Amino acid sequence: MSEQPVMAQKTVTLNVNGQAASVTAMPDTPLLLIFRNDLALNGPKYGCGLGECGACTVIIDGVAARACVFPLAGAEGREITTLEGIGSRACPHPVQQAFIDEQAAQCGYCMNGMIMTAKALLDRNPHPSESEIRNELSANLCRCGTHIEILRAVMRAARHPL
Ligand code: FES
Repeated sequence: MSEQPVMAQKTVTLNVNGQAASVTAMPDTPLLLIFRNDLALNGPKYGCGLGECGACTVIIDGVAARACVFPLAGAEGREITTLEGIGSRACPHPVQQAFIDEQAAQCGYCMNGMIMTAKALLDRNPHPSESEIRNELSANLCRCGTHIEILRAVMRAARHPL
């Protein structure tokens, strides 16, 4: 009987929100679990855990990414931004402020993913059309059905310099 190879833990230095964070875990550990369990970054939410809902969205090297299916080993040397890295309660990012102004949240669970996806879009395309915004957010799910308010919020943010 052949022995199965044993996967070992690995120490990885992450660049999260402009700071280095050293983490030791199995290489295939999803980033979402690292953020929430090891780094006290609870902005990214656990929704489906399958890369389908968008609640866990972060920005990696400028691109919106699903942290629940992104392995720790693939994140070394990448520039990672979570919700905590874009604004604060006292000084919200313009996208966050637009979501507040448009009262886009109901339960709020999808907001992290919506905001991070919108920020990634606006960073590369500051003045997207309505259809471009709809297309970008189409893979982020909101069970409350506040899609119109979310669309208004991103359009509001697009009118402001980021
Ligand atoms: Fe990651 Fe749903 S929790 S996509």
